[in-house]
Amino acid sequence: MGDSKSGVVAEDTKNLETSEESQTALPRHVAIVMDGNGRWAKRRGLPRVIGHQAGMKALERTIDNAKDLGVRYLSVYAFSTENWKRARSEVQGLMGLFRYYLKGKIQQMHRRGARVRFVGLMNAFQDDILETVRSAEDLTRDNTDIDVIFCVNYGGRQEILDAVSSLMRSNHDGPVTEDVLRKHLYAPDIPDPDLLIRTGGELRISNFWLWEGAYSEFYFSDLLWPDFDRAELERALHSYAGRNRRYGTA
Ligand code: FPP
Repeated sequence: MGDSKSGVVAEDTKNLETSEESQTALPRHVAIVMDGNGRWAKRRGLPRVIGHQAGMKALERTIDNAKDLGVRYLSVYAFSTENWKRARSEVQGLMGLFRYYLKGKIQQMHRRGARVRFVGLMNAFQDDILETVRSAEDLTRDNTDIDVIFCVNYGGRQEILDAVSSLMRSNHDGPVTEDVLRKHLYAPDIPDPDLLIRTGGELRISNFWLWEGAYSEFYFSDLLWPDFDRAELERALHSYAGRNRRYGTA
């Protein structure tokens, strides 16, 4: 994608980072629905899991690029509560990748100053995955360059249901305001996503960050996730910088 257009965008984005308006022009939290791995593989006559492998490489690149461009929080939809319904071989392939990533790449992310977090119903995963998840979170807890949030076995409706259940168990007294409920979400300390990117050409939210994304700006990319690159991330950031966020006001 290294065309002259993306070169211009790159320059604009750089200016945004250094301009006085950078705090509002650059999204603090970018969330991504990484869609299109299966189609990417199919087009090449390869099994879907090879598409997920290529997707994992795109994810590694994107973490580096996001950090480099000054994004403070990057969340990715790595596995939804609905993904269990996929073919057994694909689910097993994804779990294999997850294990490989956790065991092989976390040190690298730590060295790059990333704090790694996992959001979702983690108890569904096998013990060895859970242990690695916990040690990855412990190892990277004090890193401050970028927070990388893996949403795994995550569903927005489930999160809201869990928040309501947790609130009811808390014996909360008084009116239930947004702030009260928010405290019971999976990761209340993470700021709401400013920009939500979805690749793969589909125009839907698919149960991602339902509460938190109420006022997110959307950027839909026709690229399949394994093809997502720095130029497209820069285009998304540039598009965001031109938006007028009104949060329901005139
Ligand atoms: C959606 O594409 C993608 C997923 C369900 C999985 C996303 C996973 C990765 C990018 C790699 C995992 C990495 C880690 C560290 C967990 P799709 O399969 O729905 O694509 P399609 O719409 O073309 O079928």
